[in-house]
Amino acid sequence: MRTQVVIIGSGPSGLLLGQLLTNAGIDNIILERASKDYVLNRIRAGVLEEGMADMLDEAGVGARMREIGLPHDGFEIAFDERCHRLDLHELTGKRVIIYGQTEVTQDLMDKREATGGVTIYEAANVEPHDFDGDKPYVTYEKDGVTHRIDCDFIAGCDGYHGVSRRSVPEKAIATYERIYPFGWLGIIADVEPVSHELIYANHPRGFALCSMRSMTRIRYYVQVALDEKIEDWSDDRFWDEIRRRLPREQAERMKTAPSIEKSIAPLRSFVAEPLRFGRLFLAGDAGHIVPPTGAKGLNLAASDVRYLFDGLREYYAEGSSAGIDNYSQKALQRVWKAERFSWWMTQTLHRLPEEGAFGQKIQHAELDYLFESVAARTALAENYVGLPY
Ligand code: FAD
Ligand code: DHB
Repeated sequence: MRTQVVIIGSGPSGLLLGQLLTNAGIDNIILERASKDYVLNRIRAGVLEEGMADMLDEAGVGARMREIGLPHDGFEIAFDERCHRLDLHELTGKRVIIYGQTEVTQDLMDKREATGGVTIYEAANVEPHDFDGDKPYVTYEKDGVTHRIDCDFIAGCDGYHGVSRRSVPEKAIATYERIYPFGWLGIIADVEPVSHELIYANHPRGFALCSMRSMTRIRYYVQVALDEKIEDWSDDRFWDEIRRRLPREQAERMKTAPSIEKSIAPLRSFVAEPLRFGRLFLAGDAGHIVPPTGAKGLNLAASDVRYLFDGLREYYAEGSSAGIDNYSQKALQRVWKAERFSWWMTQTLHRLPEEGAFGQKIQHAELDYLFESVAARTALAENYVGLPY
């Protein structure tokens, strides 16, 4: 078998790249380790930057997002028994859209099917080969048979635990990492959100976030220690804990319902450099991870795809390799700014016992400053709505 671009991974980055390539007449095949249902049911991000939303439009998959996604002009930070509103739109002229990653994935998969794109699900032992030369290829097993796809380029869109990054010789790659000593316990429930906007709470008992997927479905999180077990968290315990971390007014207003999903996610910052190795490119979580506090993971996957797609289109349409040659440097510049922002949001909003009393005082000063200074709020807002591509 032969194609122009083999994409490893059918998450948002692989699907979005695949659709843009297909629309531009560039052949591609996606190899996905998991089943379609498994990929579709993974609950993850929920906040889209305008730049990502525009890319979904460009890929021809934006209609449902524009119809049922919720544009948000601002959010609140709860701190010291009060909610402070941050008006993103007033500060930046931009807004974000609440639209779940599961919906983005569904829209992209539907479009791929409608436009004849090939995805091979449950492809086992996917392996990229010879990407340091001119004739790369990828092998995989399906139903016990080994297959080979020859190609021009390989896009590693296979997430943090994928095979692409692991296939690069150790000496060719540098990695930078910070692991945080806590996680997020998140639930989904079908109930009206406590507020029509998101609330990020800094509380002595730990961070809490009240997000949503729609005006009838909430996505709430609380900071927990890494050794917490999900079995120890009944719904009642979760609802009690999140209410304790909010100002009284919001806590009293909060409506509860049985959870339909509950899980604990660790927090990590991670960057691999570079993001290109000959004819293999890394995009999205395969190349970098941010802690979720700034809602940047999914949006960074989209900006990587922007640069990679533009480079590949230029290569095929104009015979120029300038775009792909610049991909790693360009993508990493934006990645590091999102790493910095996500780290800052995490530091500023979580309980950090290892930072001691001094750290806590600094955190308070940081939040006080934020609500006294338009300049500080603007800096937060322009990062939250997404830096330009
Ligand atoms: P992924 O979504 O990880 O997709 C990679 C795909 O590759 C998967 O389908 C996987 O099955 C496949 N794959 C892996 N290995 C192989 C292989 N060897 N062969 C073939 N296929 C393979 N971001 C936010 O902004 N907000 C959030 O609230 C948020 N919550 C998150 C919660 C969790 C538990 C996690 C893990 C991430 C969360 N993120 C969040 C981050 C966000 O979901 C990711 O940044 C986003 O999914 C990245 O998309 P991706 O396509 O690069 O990678
Ligand atoms: C969500 C996750 C985030 O990390 C965030 O900052 C905002 C919203 C969410 O899952 O809805």
